[in-house]
Parts: sequence; structure tokens; C-alpha cells
Amino acid sequence: MATFEQSQTNDRRTMNQIELLTEAAKNFRTVGTVTFSSRFLVNKMVSPIQKNNAQCIVELGAGNGCITKGILGKMGDDSKLYSFEINDKFCDMVRALNDDRLEVINDSAEKIEEYLQQHNEHKADYIISAVPLVVLPDDIGARILAAVKKTLKPGGVFVQLSYNPVMHKKHLTDFDLIKRKFTPLNLPPAFVFVCQN
Ligand SMILES: C[S@@+](CC[C@H](N)C(=O)[O-])C[C@H]1O[C@@H](n2cnc3c(N)ncnc32)[C@H](O)[C@@H]1O
Repeated sequence: MATFEQSQTNDRRTMNQIELLTEAAKNFRTVGTVTFSSRFLVNKMVSPIQKNNAQCIVELGAGNGCITKGILGKMGDDSKLYSFEINDKFCDMVRALNDDRLEVINDSAEKIEEYLQQHNEHKADYIISAVPLVVLPDDIGARILAAVKKTLKPGGVFVQLSYNPVMHKKHLTDFDLIKRKFTPLNLPPAFVFVCQN
């Protein structure tokens, strides 16, 4: 029989999924998926992060906070994570992680520079992105990538999730592609592009 905690976790997962399907039906071009990332995909997204050089991390497209949680698990006590998410309901889910190292920014990933400056940060060590570059309007995607290029430290690492195995040929040409990892254990199967500035 399920414990009280297990049934609460299951209820939360069901709520997350209902929330996601509702938001995806309203605006598929910004949500870009019908399931949040699996733990296998989250592990691949955060695996490039090294605790000793992760002072300032930026996340783009936090959704329900599944990757946010993975990033926090790899950070030291005095590191900061700035998580961008345009959807109000998803922002509430990420805020519920309730971690002092986390700043949830309910605004577009195009504005990374403006918010880093507001928080007296210079550049990011890592930028971890799940924004759906392939389905976003081209001009928005281009502005997000320009903002990543500008705010990522030289030698900093940019990790991008995609369901399209060749998206780097159109979208990541300004970065050095270090690795492309495939995750079959996700719905849909996904690719993680690890790039350097
Ligand atoms: C594919 S979902 C990923 C959600 C979650 N991180 C995961 O991995 O399951 C993409 C997320 O990007 C958000 N998003 C789309 N455009 C954005 C933008 N310009 N700035 C910030 N977030 C954006 C969507 O609202 C959605 O939550």
C-alpha cells in the first residue's frame, strides 16, 4: 500500500502533468512539449556542471523546476541560480522549491544581461536551457541565443535541450559544440547539446 508521502508525490506529479497539458494546449509554440523532462534527461542536462566553478548559473525555460532542482543539487552554498520562465503558473512551481540560492525570473530569456546586471553579476559560468528553440519564432530564438553568447563567460558552458538531433546546424553555429548526448528514456527521446563559448 502507498504511504501518505508517496500518494502526495503522485498527486503532485499528476497536477504537474495536468498543468503542463493545459498550458501546452494554450500555447504550444512557447511550451514546446507535452511532458516535463525525465530524471534521466535531467541528469544529462546537469552533468557538465562542476561545483568548483559554478558561481553563477542561468537556467532558461524552467517549466515545473525539474532541471532547476537538478542544478541546485550540483551547486555550492554560495552559488546563485537565475531561472527564467515566461509562464506564471510554472514560475509558482519553481518558487515552491524554496531555495535561497534560487532567483526565479518571470520574464523572457532574451533579457539575461539586464537581470544579471540588476543582481550585480558579470557573466554566467553555465547557461542551461530547455527553451524550445526549434518551435519558437525565429526572431525570439535568435535574440535568446545572442543573449547567451553575450552573457556566458569565455570558456563557459551552454547546455541546450532539443528533440531535434540536428538543431545545432541551424541554431548553435555561434558556439563550439563539444558533445551531443542522446536520451532514449524521455518522452519524446531527447538530445542534449553541450557547447562552449
Ligand atoms: C520544453 S519546456 C521545458 C520545461 C522544463 N525545464 C523541462 O525540462 O521539462 C520549455 C519551457 O520554456 C519556457 N519558455 C518558452 N519561451 C521562453 C522564453 N522566451 N523565456 C523563458 N522561458 C521560456 C516555456 O514556458 C516552458 O516552460
